[in-house]
Amino acid sequence: MISIIAAVAKNGVIGAKNDLPWYLPEDLKHFKELTTGKTVLMGRKTFESILKRLGKPLPNRKNVVVTRDRNYTLSPPPQSSPIKGEEEKGKNPLPQGERKNQKIPSPLMGEGAPTAVGAGEGVCVHHSVDEALEHHSAEEIMVAGGGEIFRQTMDKADTLYVTEVDKIVEGDVYFPTIDPKIWKEVTREPHDGFSFVTYIRNS
Ligand SMILES: NC(=O)c1ccc[n+]([C@@H]2O[C@H](COP(=O)([O-])OP(=O)(O)OC[C@H]3O[C@@H](n4cnc5c(N)ncnc54)[C@H](OP(=O)(O)O)[C@@H]3O)[C@@H](O)[C@H]2O)c1
Repeated sequence: MISIIAAVAKNGVIGAKNDLPWYLPEDLKHFKELTTGKTVLMGRKTFESILKRLGKPLPNRKNVVVTRDRNYTLSPPPQSSPIKGEEEKGKNPLPQGERKNQKIPSPLMGEGAPTAVGAGEGVCVHHSVDEALEHHSAEEIMVAGGGEIFRQTMDKADTLYVTEVDKIVEGDVYFPTIDPKIWKEVTREPHDGFSFVTYIRNS
C-alpha cells in the first residue's frame, strides 16, 4: 500500500528554498497522525530539511531516504537536544548557528541498511525510488515528498492525502497535477485556510 501525503498551495507550490513555504501547525499534527508507526519515504532534500527543522529524523516512523549519492553520509543531530513537541510547533527554536550539523560518515550505510541517527531513530537509505519501494513493499509506505519523489511515485500510489492550502504562494517546487480522470476525491474536511482532502484511484 503506497500513499502520498502533501500540503499543496492553490498554485501547486509545495516548497521554497528547501523548506515549507508556510507554517501550519494543524497540518504538521495531521501529518504526524497519518504517518506515525509507518514507513515514510522521502527524497534526500526533504530529509535534510526535516533534520534542520527537527534536529533528528521523524520520530516513531521508519525514515526511508533516497539519494543517488552512494557515498551519502548522514548528519547526526545537533549537540543541543531539540525541544519536545517540535514537529507540532514546526520551527526549530535554536539559532541557526547552533543548528549546524557536523557531517560524519556512517559505518552502517548501505543498500537499505538501517542506519542509526540520533537517539533510537533509524533511517534506511536507498539509491533509487523503485529499490526503496521494493525493499519496503510489505510495509504501509507514506510518500512524504518532495517534488521529485512525488513525481516519481504518483503513478504507483493508491491514495493521496492532500492538504489544500487556500492561498497562492511563491515557491520553487510543485506538486504534480491531480488528474480527475485518475483520482477521485472521497473526503474533504474544510478548516480555516486549508482543507484535508483524500483522493483514491478511479477504479
Ligand atoms: N508541502 C509538502 O507537502 C512538502 C513535502 C515534502 C517536501 N516539501 C518541500 O519540497 C522541497 C524539496 O523537494 P525537491 O523536489 O527539491 O527534493 P526531494 O524530492 O525532497 O529530494 C530530491 C533528491 O532525492 C534524491 N532522488 C530523487 N529521485 C531519486 C531517484 N530516482 N533515485 C535516487 N535518489 C533520488 C536526489 O538526492 P541526491 O541529490 O542526494 O542524489 C534528489 O536530489 C522542499 O522545499 C521541501 O520543503 C514539501
